[in-house]
Amino acid sequence: MHRDTVFDLIGIGFGPSNLALAVRLAEEAGVSDLAHCFIERQPEFGWHRGMLLDDCRMQISFLKDLVTMRDPKSRFTFINYLFERGRLADFVNLKNFYPTRVEFHDYLSWVAAAFDERVNYGQTVIGIEAVKGEGKAQDIEALRVFSRDAEGREWERSTRALSVGIGGGPQVPPAFAALGTHNIVHSSQYLTSIDRVVGPSNGARKRVAVIGAGQSAAEVFVDLTRRFPHVDASLVIRSSALKPADDSPFVNEIFSPAFTDIVYAQPRDGRRSLIERFRDTNYAVVDRPLIEQIYEMLYLQNVSADPRHRLLANTGIETAVRTAGGQIELTLRDRLNGHARAESFDALVLATGYRRDTHLDLLDSLTPHLGEALAQGDVERDYRLVTPASFKPRIYLQGCCEDSHGLSDTLLSVLALRSDEIVASLARHTSQDRSASRTPTFPCTTRRFTAACATDVSQ
Ligand SMILES: Cc1cc2nc3c(=O)[nH]c(=O)nc-3n(C[C@H](O)[C@H](O)[C@H](O)COP(=O)(O)OP(=O)(O)OC[C@H]3O[C@@H](n4cnc5c(N)ncnc54)[C@H](O)[C@@H]3O)c2cc1C
Ligand SMILES: NC(=O)c1ccc[n+]([C@@H]2O[C@H](COP(=O)([O-])OP(=O)(O)OC[C@H]3O[C@@H](n4cnc5c(N)ncnc54)[C@H](OP(=O)(O)O)[C@@H]3O)[C@@H](O)[C@H]2O)c1
Repeated sequence: MHRDTVFDLIGIGFGPSNLALAVRLAEEAGVSDLAHCFIERQPEFGWHRGMLLDDCRMQISFLKDLVTMRDPKSRFTFINYLFERGRLADFVNLKNFYPTRVEFHDYLSWVAAAFDERVNYGQTVIGIEAVKGEGKAQDIEALRVFSRDAEGREWERSTRALSVGIGGGPQVPPAFAALGTHNIVHSSQYLTSIDRVVGPSNGARKRVAVIGAGQSAAEVFVDLTRRFPHVDASLVIRSSALKPADDSPFVNEIFSPAFTDIVYAQPRDGRRSLIERFRDTNYAVVDRPLIEQIYEMLYLQNVSADPRHRLLANTGIETAVRTAGGQIELTLRDRLNGHARAESFDALVLATGYRRDTHLDLLDSLTPHLGEALAQGDVERDYRLVTPASFKPRIYLQGCCEDSHGLSDTLLSVLALRSDEIVASLARHTSQDRSASRTPTFPCTTRRFTAACATDVSQ
């Protein structure tokens, strides 16, 4: 029987969360021998490419990059990136803490390039399996991670710990889910799909509705009005007005790493109430300058008596159906006077936000071993899923711990420190494993493929 090597850590997803972790692992001398790799479904590094609109800015200071809050002397700071790109002096002249997302994407890609050998790009993780030891206790000793590449080949790797950093999934309201994707796109795929979704003019004007009142909706709305001279855009919002994100300094302290301790120390209800109280820092809110830009655009088209674009406030969507001609007919109800009316659109952009529960599907097969912990989101302060004593592998969750760790969990704010906390935990537990000589005792009979510890199970 062939016994395979086992990784100390596999990171699923290689967005900013696991990228920050890769940096921390590389910079912490005490963990240099941890065998680890990452699996990312995109063919190369990409940070919300579908929303990489030209002039949109970061919603966070560049000083909250992947490392500075932990170690401003790291070579992976945004400032060092600017220096190496030869733009430091020019950036200083901008007098702006908020780079464009295009520039921040370039910074993240620059960091990611340093870890190319650690990342298996172009592979989607499709399942996780618990591996029992052969000892009497039959404890779960490790996890098998299954992934599939673009050619349909399946890969299998074994690990003692997982870091799940798969981000959010598109939140598609049920009214739209049944309509397919013919002329409907979620904002996360805006740039990659909008030309197809809107289609050519062919001499006719196109009516496009953007659904949502958050930052994505506002950015998409403005972009549509600029990108397509033949589009009449309607921004459909349930609320009475586009509301500004509260980024005032005292409120902004909730995104400081120290606030994570405050949230985590609360009982469940207290955590929820803190999150609700500060919801308008992040969800269904828009940067003030963008609100002012939209207001002015709508005002100016009234001055020129050419009102092509609209903001439909207080407007709920009751039904969405496809017409015989392929348009989408929405039943819109005015939430103030209760009146309903039908309007048809050639295309829809759903800027309806993100789900943060996609890790549940990925880890579903472990439920029999984990009990209620997964569904209830029982996570330790060090982001480790609570597991029974018989379940030895560690599962670190990043970006899906908002309920326990607060609003910064889905954002970039705490990445530098969170990666530090996870690596400290990983180092502690790995050294315990080693001092207990917990070597793997599970069988692995499949043939090894190219990557160390990876197996192509399709052969
Ligand atoms: C348009 C937009 C702009 C934003 N701007 C900001 C901002 O300015 N400031 C801020 O603090 N936050 C911002 N956010 C919030 C955002 O969540 C964080 O910036 C950041 O992306 C979180 O990083 P992450 O690695 O946790 O998730 P993601 O960036 O979503 O990365 C997850 C990665 O996992 C991969 N993946 C998913 N499933 C699998 C799988 N099964 N197998 C393999 N790989 C998988 C994905 O391809 C992706 O690369 C923004 C969000 C959006 C949508
Ligand atoms: N520049 C940037 O850095 C940038 C750009 C884009 C996004 N982001 C970030 O990405 C995250 C998500 O932002 P987001 O704008 O994508 O999502 P969001 O803030 O969660 O907003 C989703 C919007 O969709 C609306 N909605 C949901 N279901 C609906 C339905 N059935 N009918 C009508 N409306 C519905 C919500 O309406 P209600 O308000 O009525 O609930 C809400 O306004 C945030 O952290 C944001 O800061 C950042």
